[in-house]
Amino acid sequence: PALRADVVTIFPDYLAPLRLSLIGRAARTGILDLAVHDLRTWTHDRHRTVDDTPYGGGAGMVMKPEPWGEALDALVPAGADPRPRLVVPTPSGRPFTQAVAVELAAEPHLVFACGRYEGIDSRVAADAATRMRVDEVSIGDYVLNGGEVAVLVMLEAVVRLLPGVVGNPASLTEESHAAEHDGLLEGPVFTKPTSWRGLDVPPVLLSGDHGAIARWRREQALERTRRVRPELAPAPLEGRGLEGLT
Ligand code: ADE
Repeated sequence: PALRADVVTIFPDYLAPLRLSLIGRAARTGILDLAVHDLRTWTHDRHRTVDDTPYGGGAGMVMKPEPWGEALDALVPAGADPRPRLVVPTPSGRPFTQAVAVELAAEPHLVFACGRYEGIDSRVAADAATRMRVDEVSIGDYVLNGGEVAVLVMLEAVVRLLPGVVGNPASLTEESHAAEHDGLLEGPVFTKPTSWRGLDVPPVLLSGDHGAIARWRREQALERTRRVRPELAPAPLEGRGLEGLT
């Protein structure tokens, strides 16, 4: 397979949507080797306990280190080369972006550790770092109940980048955030009919003039990006060193 992905969670059913659509087909056709594991497999007490109260006090519960340690020992062979990447979804992680998705899609083996409650005992990441590259990642500035939905988001973004998953590879370079379009947002799109409920398709798109169409799309992308995500829009040319040419 192009990618092996292991997901460890106390709610394996939360990952059921991975059987559907493009990711499901990638798993069935062997592009993706996906396994979802129940963390409680690696507990040994009668109640299959995975959490405990936090040292130092505070609200909520913290995931115990022992089941996580055993899970990662089982999933990551000692001396694995290259060292697999351990992705830990957490609101305190680095932002997940299209560039991170591209990075992860280039890895042969990803392990996702879904925390619940107030998070996982920090020694788990410290111990894992001896044999894995630990990557704490946030999918946005809001709080989820656990990492499961974040893993669904990240896997969908990553798996569609694997060769053979998306039917037309050009779709991947023409979309929002694509490096080929300087990370701009995609502008509006249209299909038939040319006129609908009094609204017309912009005539340039019907002109057959590919240069004019490309320029119009670039303008639309820039306008939209400046309006809804100004921080993603390129800085104006002034002050970017043209004066250095004279
Ligand atoms: N787990 C809980 N909230 C999260 C977030 N915003 N991103 C990633 N993982 C999370």
